[in-house]
Amino acid sequence: MEVVPLSSPEEVGALAADAIEALVRAHPEAVLGLATGSSPLPAYQELVRRHRAGTAPSYAGVRAFLLDEYVGLPAGHPQTYRETIFRELTDALNIPRDRVASPDPSPDGLPGAGERYEDALRAAGGVDLQVLGIGADGHLAFNEPGSSLASTTRIKTLTSQTREDNARFFDSVEEVPRHVLTQGLGTILRARHLLMVVSGAGKAEAVAAAVEGPLSASCPGSALQLHPHASVLLDAAAASRLARVDYYREVWESKPDWQGL
Ligand code: GLP
Repeated sequence: MEVVPLSSPEEVGALAADAIEALVRAHPEAVLGLATGSSPLPAYQELVRRHRAGTAPSYAGVRAFLLDEYVGLPAGHPQTYRETIFRELTDALNIPRDRVASPDPSPDGLPGAGERYEDALRAAGGVDLQVLGIGADGHLAFNEPGSSLASTTRIKTLTSQTREDNARFFDSVEEVPRHVLTQGLGTILRARHLLMVVSGAGKAEAVAAAVEGPLSASCPGSALQLHPHASVLLDAAAASRLARVDYYREVWESKPDWQGL
């Protein structure tokens, strides 16, 4: 795992954008794994800014897969993760909506939705680069603490903490769905590069547990320790509880330029 301590959310966003653009330049038909939530927003805003400035690669051949989706919101609801990613990233990059896949939470399709999503991921050749945030309780996508490290896409029940955390996007916590469809930890670990982006002191404990704590289903983020190519980009506040932060900084500062993330 490569941990990169940076100063600000903007620096985290710029470095994440560099990695995504480098992939798309090298592989114009790359499969991107996209996360919603506030953590990836600086990266998404930077990608959109570069696209508008005319310096970005073309995203016309790219495909995208979302990590997770709420169950129980009507299709087209602005807080579905599908609508959120259209609004925050993919529409602005001109990625056609039919090239953005997300788990299908429609009531009729729900029983087989997880397996169908796994099939679609495999048919696309798997995810090349998966953007990730982390929840305050260490959750990855919507894999709450206790999720199997080998889990695949399935329905899950949110903790009350996660529903409260996400209530800011709704009128009240009662409106936050109780159920979700989420890629499993085993699904996420199949992506070829994991790119976690985290900002803010509220995530410092979760980051420390994921990066330096024991590998455990009690901290789903610790699953990154099993991955051969995981990058964790942190602002100063998010890195503030790491015991080895000086070492990570030294490693980053002395890294050869050609190596990239
Ligand atoms: C949400 C999402 C996750 C995200 C996490 C943190 O519930 N399902 O994919 O990483 O929780 O969200 P935020 O970045 O808004 O703090």
